[in-house]
Amino acid sequence: LQVKSTNVYSVEHRVPAEARHERNGHIGGVLWFTGLSGAGKSTLAMEVENHLFRKGYQVYVLDGDNVRRGLNANLGFSPDDRAENIRRVGEAAALFADAGFIVITSFISPYRADRERARAAGRGQFHEIYVHADLETCEKRDPKGLYRRARAGEIQDFTGIHAPYEHPVDPELVVDTTGEAVEACTQQVLDYVESKFSLH
Ligand code: PPS
Repeated sequence: LQVKSTNVYSVEHRVPAEARHERNGHIGGVLWFTGLSGAGKSTLAMEVENHLFRKGYQVYVLDGDNVRRGLNANLGFSPDDRAENIRRVGEAAALFADAGFIVITSFISPYRADRERARAAGRGQFHEIYVHADLETCEKRDPKGLYRRARAGEIQDFTGIHAPYEHPVDPELVVDTTGEAVEACTQQVLDYVESKFSLH
């Protein structure tokens, strides 16, 4: 990253982080979902968001397909563009976490180095969650017909077909959507959130 923002100084908030946590009843942080296209990241993210919201949590999902229509509309799928995609999302997620939110990010985020930068931006409240399904299963599901089009040569650089996916080495949580139904996977994440984000 070429840093061009020189002569800038950080400003202190007058609202302490603890005050935000007390009001919300939980701390803020990032649940970073990573996995192949079709692994179930978005489905799971939206389910978890819905459950947490109804329980009173401040929670919000940043989803790849949504963010790429707005904030990151100028980025494609080359390694550099994916890196910039993940950099921006990592920084945005850290801001949400700072504001007291539990932010769930749902991006393929195929490169370890990019995810590690996002972790660093998350300053201690970053939880990598590997939403795992094997390629064969994802390709069979093919909810948007993208694998079929990638195989037909209509989409270049498709993750798992001609672009790499570097699986997490030591994720905080692994959710296996091949072996488990959506409800069970959702419960796994909800239990994790309760164990890590509660105040007392
Ligand atoms: S990345 O790798 O993290 O920057 O990707 P992400 O921002 O999550 O965007 C993935 C969604 O973009 C669509 N799409 C592609 N995915 C992978 N490779 C290629 N070449 C590609 N082109 C378009 C696709 O709908 C992905 O959505 P999901 O929900 O993962 O299937």
